[in-house]
Amino acid sequence: MSKSGTRKITVPRFVKSAADGEKLSMVTAYDYLWAGIMDEAGVDSILVGDSLAMVVQGHSSTLPVTLDEMIYHGKLVMRATQRAMVVVDMPFMSYQVSARQAVRNAGRIIKETGCDAIKLEGGSIQRKTIQSIMRAEIPVMAHVGMRPQAVRQLGGMGKVQRDEQQLLDDARAAEDAGAFAIVLELVPADIAARITEALTIPTIGIGAGPGCNGQVLVGPDMLGLTPDFKPKFLKHFAKLREQSVNAVQQYLQEVRAGEFPGQEHSHQ
Ligand code: KIV
Repeated sequence: MSKSGTRKITVPRFVKSAADGEKLSMVTAYDYLWAGIMDEAGVDSILVGDSLAMVVQGHSSTLPVTLDEMIYHGKLVMRATQRAMVVVDMPFMSYQVSARQAVRNAGRIIKETGCDAIKLEGGSIQRKTIQSIMRAEIPVMAHVGMRPQAVRQLGGMGKVQRDEQQLLDDARAAEDAGAFAIVLELVPADIAARITEALTIPTIGIGAGPGCNGQVLVGPDMLGLTPDFKPKFLKHFAKLREQSVNAVQQYLQEVRAGEFPGQEHSHQ
């Protein structure tokens, strides 16, 4: 149970829900305010994604964000989250050097944020690393398909990954190494569905069609806070940027016209 009495979603509970046929929901959040909103809405999992490098920090890729910054944002999210399973991304170069480096840094994320699990990008090439982190009793979510940290090797961020054998090998390698779930990013829907069938652990898709066990979206994207980003897979469930700009403009207008604050917002 969480502090508020709601039943906390743990890693085993998350995995069991998928095995029971429930569709899992995951959304990214990077701070106390938005994590609280996502948790109150009832998402199964919050991902403190390294997408924060782009969405929060304004970089053009996910590569610049540091381990210390990920830990800082993980702490903010954990302060607001009562129920959802929280997963924190391992940033670029925090696990690629060696399995030892990866275990040490995954341990820092778990110890310093209190989150439930870490996520790292890669399947076959990270097999040994996933095994080593698992041996330290730290749950690992893997991420295969389009891997934003491999942007230079893949030749771009938005490229759909179509090599079915490679994708399946990567997903199987991550499962065999002990990952408890796998994000499939930008994979054709039929391939993602077949990979989901072939695995015993849940797949969480982003741009990978409806055949996955669950879905993940970047919170600010799905809420329409980044309206210029319009990949095919994204649905805007709200228009928060437009509504926010309109609201601030109305405030400016009322201040300039001397209409705000009125009597009802003034102390007598
Ligand atoms: O960093 C992130 O937001 C992610 C999701 C796109 C899965 O890895």
